[in-house]
Amino acid sequence: MKQNLFIALEGIDGSGKSTQVKMLSEKMTAAGHKVYATFEPTDGMIGAVLRKILKGQIKADHRVIAGLFLADRLDHLLNEETGIVKKMQEGYTVITDRYYFSSYAYHGTHMDMDWVIEANKMCAQILKPDLNIFIDVPPDICMQRINAGRESTELFETLESLKNVRKKYFEAFDKLRDKEAIFITDGNRTAQAIADDIHQAVMLS
Ligand code: ADP
Ligand code: TYD
Repeated sequence: MKQNLFIALEGIDGSGKSTQVKMLSEKMTAAGHKVYATFEPTDGMIGAVLRKILKGQIKADHRVIAGLFLADRLDHLLNEETGIVKKMQEGYTVITDRYYFSSYAYHGTHMDMDWVIEANKMCAQILKPDLNIFIDVPPDICMQRINAGRESTELFETLESLKNVRKKYFEAFDKLRDKEAIFITDGNRTAQAIADDIHQAVMLS
């Protein structure tokens, strides 16, 4: 298998991304990769503001939110200590829980998706994933999982919103299918079945 891959996991809230990042990381580590698992929003300065917005502790216009996610992503890439670019240079395989397709889908429900894609071009020029993996789970199942796991919900965590976001993901995949490597997997199965599917797709990427 190719070493030093950059892989992005995508999906609506509650689709099982964190679970699959963990399982893929373990599998790739066992196969001899140096793995760096990471996520967006980050745990950096801009990510902290975003989490407050998502929890409803700070109010912000959706265009401002889109701009902050872009800034957070640039820091995620370029940060001198923890940035993905540095990790790639050090030979790591980097697996991220969310990357720019999240912005296309989530902000595309509130503003012109083409603007979001255009604004994120800088990130695509810096680092394009070897594979974008979309874990497809019906929004009602995701809402059940979210409600079972926590007391409070975040900004986008309503059935209506998740339905719109899922639709926008497919719109974005359609728009960019010639420019991006995309793998869609049925996420309404056991975690192990999904992990096997993802591992096979990564091996072929
Ligand atoms: P995300 O990171 O996309 O929000 P998580 O991996 O945190 O998703 O999973 C959300 C919830 O669903 C968690 O409680 C997790 O244990 C559960 N879960 C994850 N994968 C599956 C699966 N394949 N089938 C059923 N439940 C799952
Ligand atoms: P995350 O912590 O991955 O939530 P979950 O584990 O529930 O999927 O992401 C938090 C929220 O941030 C999620 O609702 C999606 C949203 N988001 C955006 O709106 N734009 C973005 O660019 C990214 C990366 C995330």
